[in-house]
Amino acid sequence: EEDSRIHSIRTTIRVVPNFPKPGIMFQDITTLLLDPKAFKNTVDLFVERYKQKNISVVAGIEARGFIFGPPIALAIGAKFVPLRKPRKLPGEVISEEYVLEYGTDCLEMHIGAVEPGECALVVDDLIATGGTLCAAMNLLERVGAEVVECACIIEIPELKGRERLKGKPLFTLLESH
Ligand code: PRP
Repeated sequence: EEDSRIHSIRTTIRVVPNFPKPGIMFQDITTLLLDPKAFKNTVDLFVERYKQKNISVVAGIEARGFIFGPPIALAIGAKFVPLRKPRKLPGEVISEEYVLEYGTDCLEMHIGAVEPGECALVVDDLIATGGTLCAAMNLLERVGAEVVECACIIEIPELKGRERLKGKPLFTLLESH
């Protein structure tokens, strides 16, 4: 049962070689979204893991964490907080920079969206180097929240992103090489 659900997810993700640049095997989850059973299986696997874990906030990372985070948050009775790329949020924000292959990027969160002592789950579609998830965790910890776990659909184990997460647990549904 679990295996067939994972299989539905693995087989509906489209891998696009050399996108957006040479050498990158892009993991395209838009094809997973076209299959309602695979999409539901994805959300269900996370909901089964995180219901009754006292998570008060699901933080979703732009852009694809905005697709999977909200249905998980609704199902477990948590609020949803978007972690956005720079200059998108209209209110007062805190920012966390992270290093990319060339240059840096940044995630921002509204001040006041998460309160001290809250228990947070961070959701994204994929972990590669782990820089994005690390920045997301830093934002939550800076406002006094506890990051219970990070959850992604896909992990690229060769890039060792897991080792950058400061010992915080990471749960992923499948590996891609
Ligand atoms: C992808 C992915 C993660 C991030 C993972 O986003 O959705 O957010 O990269 O990479 P890392 O583990 O090396 O930090 P992308 O950079 O494509 O941005 P987008 O979602 O705004 O398109």
